[in-house]
Amino acid sequence: MIDGEEWRFSLEKFVINGGCRLCGEVTVSGAKNAAVAIIPAAMLADDICIIENVPAISDVSAIIDIMSQMGVDIRLVNKSTLRIDSRNIHTAVIPYEMAKHLRASYYFIGTLLGRFGQAMVAMPGGCDLGVRPIDQHIKGFEALGAEVSIERGMIDVSARSLIGNQIYFDVVSVGATINTMLAAVKANGLTIIENAAKEPHVVDLANFLNSMGADVRGAGTDVIKIRGVSSLHGVDYAIIPDQIEAGTYMVAAAATAGDVLIKNVIPKHLEPITAKLVKMGAEVYEYDDAVRVTRKGPVVKGTIKTMPHPGFPTDMQPQMTTLLTQAEGTSLVTEGVWDNRFRYVDELRRMGANIQVDGKVAIVEGNTPLTGAPVKATDLRAGAAMMIAGLIATGRTEIEDIYHIERGYEDMEVKLRSLGADIKKIYIPDSAIPQAL
Ligand code: EPU
Repeated sequence: MIDGEEWRFSLEKFVINGGCRLCGEVTVSGAKNAAVAIIPAAMLADDICIIENVPAISDVSAIIDIMSQMGVDIRLVNKSTLRIDSRNIHTAVIPYEMAKHLRASYYFIGTLLGRFGQAMVAMPGGCDLGVRPIDQHIKGFEALGAEVSIERGMIDVSARSLIGNQIYFDVVSVGATINTMLAAVKANGLTIIENAAKEPHVVDLANFLNSMGADVRGAGTDVIKIRGVSSLHGVDYAIIPDQIEAGTYMVAAAATAGDVLIKNVIPKHLEPITAKLVKMGAEVYEYDDAVRVTRKGPVVKGTIKTMPHPGFPTDMQPQMTTLLTQAEGTSLVTEGVWDNRFRYVDELRRMGANIQVDGKVAIVEGNTPLTGAPVKATDLRAGAAMMIAGLIATGRTEIEDIYHIERGYEDMEVKLRSLGADIKKIYIPDSAIPQAL
């Protein structure tokens, strides 16, 4: 488990000697963005939940830490199964010290509001992707009758009773959709969420809640209807496979002209990624719960615009941009979700990429051979992009700040090594540790 300042200044880095084709099989873990909602949501049950296919990533460790400190009996039954008993939870307050390592800490607000009618949680800060407002989450809570105030870095939400209502979100937000579902599931009457997010993890949370006895309909469409129920019971539930982890290995296979069978996936969830990869010259074969990706010809230039699901996922944008540096011709990448998701481009340039960024648009020159260099993971998916860049570069790439990668990818270097990559995790000598420590 990773905690304290150790998390902030990881003492490890990845070292990759590039130039190998990835070949073989890799198994995808449970979805991070489903897990960070479903694990707290288990606190809505009156008894024990068993959650399977939990990814072993540091975001999940951070959630386990927080819930343990709240009095939840939460323990790993095996590497990917959690047993959660929240009957003795003793607080609805999560101070900054507990929440600071987890961007998705906002799901505790909806969950605790749903369970206790109140929550006091440290406000999530900005992040490496730009401002991260939660105005739509607040809009959802207030529509259900909650009073919301923000003081001294804490968001305080309380309701005498939560009453179902109609909510139209101004922007499509995964977080606001999930948080409103969490708060509404035990409210009185009918809640209708319009302009809802349709991501696979929104559907997974709805399935989880329904298996506990909730009445949530329409998840995966623009309109979600939630009829409140008085209580929810414990269940045994398996989280869906991680669409973005799968997509990352798909791009890595295509980038290295490899041949990889990616197992434990839901091919339907991968369609926006598959369609782009095929246009870019890869071959993708779909099976029941696996996809195989190969590439024999050149990488074809392309146009990518990230959009909410079922559009092309923003969380695959840095990896795809890295692949496009190898295309024949110039490609255009537009970031349609986040304000600031091109910070990693500076790192790619240090490896030889020729990418111009103007606001939310990147012009990616193809045919730019990459050479190994020391780089940083500026955020989670940027880190994944650096891994792919390191695999296709000639020579040695050293990736620092890998705690970002470990927030969301289970054993990434182990999985890549099993596909033939020359990669290892090494400790950074003491001299590299910031003085502040
Ligand atoms: N937004 C608002 N107001 C709000 C909420 C969001 O204006 O109240 C805006 C955001 O600023 C952004 C857009 O709406 O421009 C979409 O944000 P969304 O709420 O959908 O994002 P999120 O729920 O905070 C989740 C994932 C992100 C992923 C986005 C978009 C989790 C824990 N995180 O974030 O995942 O990029 O949806 O799909 O589910 C990642 O895994 O690397 C990652 C960043």
